[in-house]
Amino acid sequence: GRNASLRASVASRIVPKATSGSQISPQASYKVAVLGAAGGIGQPLGLLIKMSPLVSELHLYDIANVKGVAADLSHCNTPAQVLDFTGPSELANCLKGVDVVVIPAGVPRKPGMTRDDLFNINASIVKSLVEAVADNCPNAFIHIISNPVNSTVPIAAEVLKQKGVYNPKKLFGVTTLDVVRANTFVAQKKNLKLIDVDIPVVGGHAGITILPLLSKMRPSVTFTKEEIEELTKRIQNAGTEVVEAKAGAGSATLSMAYAAARFVESSLRALAGDPDVYECTFIQSEVTDLPFFASRVKLGKNGVESVVSADLEGVTEYEAKALEALKAELKGSIEKGIAFANKQQ
Ligand code: NAI
Repeated sequence: GRNASLRASVASRIVPKATSGSQISPQASYKVAVLGAAGGIGQPLGLLIKMSPLVSELHLYDIANVKGVAADLSHCNTPAQVLDFTGPSELANCLKGVDVVVIPAGVPRKPGMTRDDLFNINASIVKSLVEAVADNCPNAFIHIISNPVNSTVPIAAEVLKQKGVYNPKKLFGVTTLDVVRANTFVAQKKNLKLIDVDIPVVGGHAGITILPLLSKMRPSVTFTKEEIEELTKRIQNAGTEVVEAKAGAGSATLSMAYAAARFVESSLRALAGDPDVYECTFIQSEVTDLPFFASRVKLGKNGVESVVSADLEGVTEYEAKALEALKAELKGSIEKGIAFANKQQ
């Protein structure tokens, strides 16, 4: 019923004919919303999600320019129906009935900026968008991309608590790009086949809070001390590498879209019952004394099923030191987010 009426509305808005449903693959059954869909990340992310056979509807929301993006994407002959929503008055409709909400809305860094420099603008954007998520699709998986992730995820958690709908198993800070970068850089350095490489990255998503656990990677590889230091620093500063190369035109968008699409696809596979889905993500956590921490988790129908806490056991001395060193910064960023969400209510 709900699907049929929504499809009818899709048909009238975007695809005038031939939307009987027959072209929709039986496996394509999930609805995904992207908030900030006309942006540098949002556009390629929309394209990658449009290519997923698991998606039946793709809802694109932005404060401007989203109509053209949706019209463009809607011509790809893949199953997902594309709908556009512009401005706060259309946000509720964008969110109703969706299974996964991805939030890349907000401003990106320019050279010389840290992710925390984005706080003043992005904190308010994330707060208002998550309020709408709480009101319209409180059971959805929520993927937060907007930086500083170390603060925006705690903000989202507080907003959801205020609305009485917080489920810590379904709120995720997207740190997949850190894993993607770690896999790429280590495979290059050690001449490994990329497909085989999997490196857990824990902690947070800014500077030294990004902690790749090279001792826990697959396949198991031996590094010199110098290699570990060089690779760790490169993974931690990879975002800045892109910001500087773009010289004022923004931060990572294409690799970010790739990483975010991977996290969406993993979430959809988990929702579809795949019993073997693991991703690193920044979540509410008990593995350290910090209230949020990125870890490798097993994803299931209800979100985080379990945390791979073994990743933090038996780490090297270098990793143990780095873990202690990141805690103060990460704690500060988490507390800043919580304080922001609880002032001026
Ligand atoms: P962008 O400026 O190209 O796009 C942002 C989009 O958000 C724009 O289309 C803008 O209209 C929209 N927007 C602004 N306020 C909005 C609101 N209230 N509601 C809905 N949409 C709104 O920026 P880009 O490059 O796409 O980056 C987006 C965010 O992602 C930034 O905060 C950036 O720091 C973050 N990022 C996160 C990464 C991660 O690994 N988690 C990696 C790279 C970027």
